[in-house]
Amino acid sequence: ATGPAVIVAIDGPSGTGKSSTSKAVAARLGMSFLDTGAQYRAMTWWMISNGIDVTDTAAVATAAHKPVIDSGTDPAAPSITVDGADASGPIRTPEVTAKVSAVSAVPEVRAVITRLQRSIAAAAPHGIVAEGRDIGTTVLPDADVKVFLTASAEARAARRSGELGSTATADVAATREALIKRDAADSGRKTSPLAKAGDATEIDTTDLTLVQVIDRIVALVEEKRAAK
Ligand code: DC
Repeated sequence: ATGPAVIVAIDGPSGTGKSSTSKAVAARLGMSFLDTGAQYRAMTWWMISNGIDVTDTAAVATAAHKPVIDSGTDPAAPSITVDGADASGPIRTPEVTAKVSAVSAVPEVRAVITRLQRSIAAAAPHGIVAEGRDIGTTVLPDADVKVFLTASAEARAARRSGELGSTATADVAATREALIKRDAADSGRKTSPLAKAGDATEIDTTDLTLVQVIDRIVALVEEKRAAK
């Protein structure tokens, strides 16, 4: 299922189903897939592994150009490496999750990763579905299709807890607090915060199934392709 290369930007806070949705849309349409959060996590993992205090903005800024981060964009088997080593496991630890907002708020980090994201998008032969926080606003402002996913805090906490393997009430409550804190940090930072682009289509996923969300986005992309 290929056609004219289209660029699709999917943004939104944590737990809205961005990754699962974006991967499925890319697979259905024969496009590349890019998880930009994984790149910020990879940068954070490298900082931690190299003994850099992530609250030391100057140290993070100086080191930002050092790690070589590489993303595999096949939606059936996305991958992420740092200096050639597989980082897919380590980037999902609670420590990385707790520190990623601080690292991703540093302008030098964003400059390095934004440049990388643009080169990956430009090289995608059949277009790309890129998901994150600032794709439609900053990274790919000329994207053909922009989607902003939202969901209630309750729905997001329940989904994220399910991914983490625990649906116990106390765990869901703790996950909800952590999500809200991270979203506030990501939305409140100075450099390209989490934000809906003016021309993005907002989809509230609270009461939708994953397949319903995928279908809506695929329809938006097919409409664009037909018009190209
Ligand atoms: O999508 P995620 O939870 O894996 O993202 C991890 C963090 O990375 C998120 O808290 C903020 C940051 N991020 C960002 O600043 N810009 C993006 N485009 C994607 C993620």
